Amino acid sequence: MTVVRPDADGFRRAVEVLRADSVVAFPTETVYGLGANAFSEKAVGEIYRLKNRPSWNPLIVHVANVEAARELAESWPVEANELAAQFWPGPLTLVLPRARHLSGVGASNDTIAIRVPAHEVALRLLEESGLPLAAPSANRSEGISPTTAEHVLRSLPDVPLVLDGGPAAWGIESTVLDLTGGGVRLLRPGAVPLRELRDVAGPVELPGEGPSDGAARPSPGMSRRHYAPRARLVLVDDVREADRDESVGVLTYETAGVEGAEVLSGDPREYAADLYAALHRLDDAGVTTILVQEPPRTEDWLAVRDRLGRAAAK
Ligand code: TXA
Ligand code: MG
Repeated sequence: MTVVRPDADGFRRAVEVLRADSVVAFPTETVYGLGANAFSEKAVGEIYRLKNRPSWNPLIVHVANVEAARELAESWPVEANELAAQFWPGPLTLVLPRARHLSGVGASNDTIAIRVPAHEVALRLLEESGLPLAAPSANRSEGISPTTAEHVLRSLPDVPLVLDGGPAAWGIESTVLDLTGGGVRLLRPGAVPLRELRDVAGPVELPGEGPSDGAARPSPGMSRRHYAPRARLVLVDDVREADRDESVGVLTYETAGVEGAEVLSGDPREYAADLYAALHRLDDAGVTTILVQEPPRTEDWLAVRDRLGRAAAK
């Protein structure tokens, strides 16, 4: 594994690796991605192998602009127009009917998940390689997503090349919306809050809502356990009242009086930006249990609560 800076030489090497049907880890504004030519079966197979990703979980394809995205979709609903205009480049992924001439990306059926990342390194890599890049988060399946090149190194030491673009700004994955069912359906809460999506696209159907006739497709990637540290993660109502010893780490937010705790911001966006790095630090400290102060049960905290819930699942 080699970590390179995103300078002319770094991009040259990265493009060489991608054109040889291998994989490159690169920064995006959300988390680091493990990228490969989306329409090379060999390259995509390498992603699944390195991550130990289950074969049923499809991949997001990253492209440089809306025009490139439209070429991958069989149809382009009006909501896609509005959402792309407002949020791309940015941390929003759209699931659309896949263009008929394309093969599936990993496990996708007749659909394709697409986004235009808002990170200059990711965009330059897309432009210089000229390839649409399939890229899941650059971590072993079920583990914590990487927000630094160092996290990638530790989770996936066999990745041939990592472009180091510093820490990811959002620190939490993109919001994934399904536009294949005639409306707008949330598949994964993420960086873009629901409120902002509704302002642009109207009502957003949440998981568990909608027709119960089996018409709605479940999100393949939302397995119950995910985003998990090595230590056992337990959500608690009040960490100040929990029993602790040195094998227990505590993660809370702007709450005074818990000695030795990792204290994150009380703002959901800032909290999300630091969450994975904090879980990595607690794992590094060797604790066997992480007690996490339950965040408020409000919509602003939806994405954070989703990740914590999955990290806590057995
Ligand atoms: O922020 C992000 O989205 C990051 C960066 C690297 O772009 N990527 C990421 O990829 O989080 P990954 O593979 O960890 O998560 C992709 C999610 C999964 O939940 C997957 O099931 C869903 O997107 N997905 C991908 N293709 C899909 C499709 N055709 N239909 C439904 N869901 C899909
Ligand atoms: Mg992931």
